[in-house]
Amino acid sequence: MDTLPGSTGTSQFATLRLERKHPLAIRWLHWVNFPVLFVMVWSGILIYWNDSDNAYRYAHRVYRVGIGGWTLFRFFPDWFYRALHVPYQVTLGLSYHFFFMWVFAVTGVAWVLYTALSGEWRFILPQRHSLREAVQVTLVDLHLRKGLPAQTKYNGAQRIAYTSCAVMGAVMLLTGLAIYKPTQLHLLTSALGGYEMARWLHFWTTMAFLGFFVVHIGQVALAGWNNFRSMVSGYEVQRIDAPSLEQERQTWR
Ligand code: HEM
Repeated sequence: MDTLPGSTGTSQFATLRLERKHPLAIRWLHWVNFPVLFVMVWSGILIYWNDSDNAYRYAHRVYRVGIGGWTLFRFFPDWFYRALHVPYQVTLGLSYHFFFMWVFAVTGVAWVLYTALSGEWRFILPQRHSLREAVQVTLVDLHLRKGLPAQTKYNGAQRIAYTSCAVMGAVMLLTGLAIYKPTQLHLLTSALGGYEMARWLHFWTTMAFLGFFVVHIGQVALAGWNNFRSMVSGYEVQRIDAPSLEQERQTWR
């Protein structure tokens, strides 16, 4: 018999149990995807420097943050390129990018297929109340409200974020293909609004992925060791009275 933190008196003793949280396939795909995404971003920066080669000599850069003619900063400042030893590594960037894009594509498609066929999508796809729940969770995280809403595997914010990962992954692949082979895949490039638009989407979706990553790491750190460990071992220590994911999985069959 274990005592839960915060419990006092005999009546509040509770037993703990191990809950099977993440299937093996999800864990493998998750951890393969993480370094692959890193390599894609890094090699993408090596390639992007070529496009902003003039900019490196202070002429122009394609992407910026600003309003009208006023620019707060351009992607990326010179110190950024210099600090990361980016200049003149375009061919290296291209070779890494074009190899690992296949790994990114295969793991992404495998994750979507596994999630769809195993029924795990029921834990991930947003539901009718997910947006409201996401607002509540954000307010709790910002210490503006107390008491998390009841959830099964993922709360509304996680459902929206993880589903967005699938959408962003698809956008990355499609826009990447459109700017990789704009002649052969001209139908795709046109459908995406042309070469420049596809390129714009490719860049800003990368930024969105990085935004997701920062928030994701913050949330994982806040959620603690038990939660992190579950993405490695597959199991989480749970209160005996917490809703059982395994029982919910049984109801799908
Ligand atoms: C150091 C890097 C990372 C760590 C430590 C980490 C950790 C975790 C943990 C602990 C979970 C389970 C959350 C829970 O059960 O409440 C999770 C789920 C997830 N993470 Fe990450 N993650 C990392 C990188 C990434 C990256 C780069 C992506 C984007 C592609 C990503 C996308 C996801 C998705 C989509 C899920 C839900 C998976 C599912 O249930 O199918 N993670 N992550």
